[in-house]
Amino acid sequence: MSKLGSKMGTTTSTIGVFDSGFGGLTVLRALVARLPQARFAFLGDTARLPYGSKSRRTIARYAVQSAQFLVREQGAEFLVIACNTASALALDAIQDAVPVPVLGVIEPGADAARAASRTGDVLVIATGATVESHAYAAACRARGLRALEMACPLLVPLVEEGWTDHPVTAEVIRIYLNELNAEAAAQGMNPDALVLGCTHYPLLRPLIERSVPAGMRVIDSAEAAAEAAALLCNTPRPGDEAPCPILSASFAERVGNDKPPANANPPLAEIRCFATDSVEKFERLGSRFLNQPTGKVELIDLGG
Ligand code: DGL
Repeated sequence: MSKLGSKMGTTTSTIGVFDSGFGGLTVLRALVARLPQARFAFLGDTARLPYGSKSRRTIARYAVQSAQFLVREQGAEFLVIACNTASALALDAIQDAVPVPVLGVIEPGADAARAASRTGDVLVIATGATVESHAYAAACRARGLRALEMACPLLVPLVEEGWTDHPVTAEVIRIYLNELNAEAAAQGMNPDALVLGCTHYPLLRPLIERSVPAGMRVIDSAEAAAEAAALLCNTPRPGDEAPCPILSASFAERVGNDKPPANANPPLAEIRCFATDSVEKFERLGSRFLNQPTGKVELIDLGG
């Protein structure tokens, strides 16, 4: 038990999780597994999806509005940007706009790539905007890796359509990955890891794994981001050996200290989901991303 005396499932510390759609529920699923004591507020900006084909300016405006909703109206004390596109193009804008710590998915994804790659060459698939920002290439370069990025704009609509195990989707993935591997070979690269740089892609992981060359590791940026968030929440507080770099002591203590008993059944995390459009579709498809029912999704209006 934490010194604040919170009980399992009753802490009031809220982690805000944001995505352009419901793909970010893959990040939430990974977060819930690691931080079952937290309360989560998830916002999918479904009315304005896709972000991946929009300009930096527009993505930043949408992402800042979404972040402000989670902080101002849901009391989030820590934000996880469960959207690669928003993390790549709007992390600074979000950090400037809200007074709480913000974690994106790019740096954790690049950390996981570094840990997985032996050759130092990695492939990244993502939305057009993420690839054009070269955020992954820069994060990989900073870790001594060479990255070759490729936009796969057809994959998000296929996932949104629920075609996660469809022959058309399998064929599209095969074509994209063949092209990417051929380009890597042409550049003299020897990639041994593939980063899924979009929160929708983990739903395609079984199909993607069937299309990568033997021995290539597939890195899920959702898992990597959740791992990084959990680490922050469980990092020793100031006064301990290694102070937590971004979270206040009290928040980290409340969210991270109460471990569920070893025999505990599924996490007791409290989850509230919000969407800017298509609540029914969110509830139907979102449960697949979250791996449990989303509960009643609340419709909100963020303006234009
Ligand atoms: N959530 C976006 C990402 O992770 C994909 C969907 C979109 O284009 O908005 O990049």
